Amino acid sequence: MAKHKTLGQVFTPTWVVDEILDLVGYEGDDILDKYILEPSSGDGAFLTEIVSRYIDVCLSNQIETHQIIARLEKYIYAVELDKIELDKSIQNLNQLVKQKISIGKALNWKIYNQNTLDFLKNT
Ligand SMILES: C[S@@+](CC[C@H](N)C(=O)[O-])C[C@H]1O[C@@H](n2cnc3c(N)ncnc32)[C@H](O)[C@@H]1O
Repeated sequence: MAKHKTLGQVFTPTWVVDEILDLVGYEGDDILDKYILEPSSGDGAFLTEIVSRYIDVCLSNQIETHQIIARLEKYIYAVELDKIELDKSIQNLNQLVKQKISIGKALNWKIYNQNTLDFLKNT
């Protein structure tokens, strides 16, 4: 059976992601010390916007590049069952980081190829 049927793989359009992140208050300086978990991250529709917002807030607070990286690696979590989509999301995020803060190296993202229910049980 197709993955979009077995795993519910319908990805969220950017404008909807934006609205939802605004509605849950993921914006402004408050997000600097907030942990966030995307529990079924797909190819990274939410993750990309989360990381983009996080970097923008860091930059507007003159946080240094190495600190931004450490913060991204500390505060942002995701889980995704499908390894192919997970790998796409990591590629997208590394590309985004490269564009925004000129860092070419792959980050040590807290993005796990796991069933979210198991992840939550063991965390
Ligand atoms: C509807 S898509 C949404 C993806 C992304 N959050 C978005 O908004 O674009 C749901 C995703 O959840 C993943 N998924 C389904 N069951 C899961 C589970 N138990 N644990 C982790 N990921 C799961 C699927 O592989 C799929 O990529």
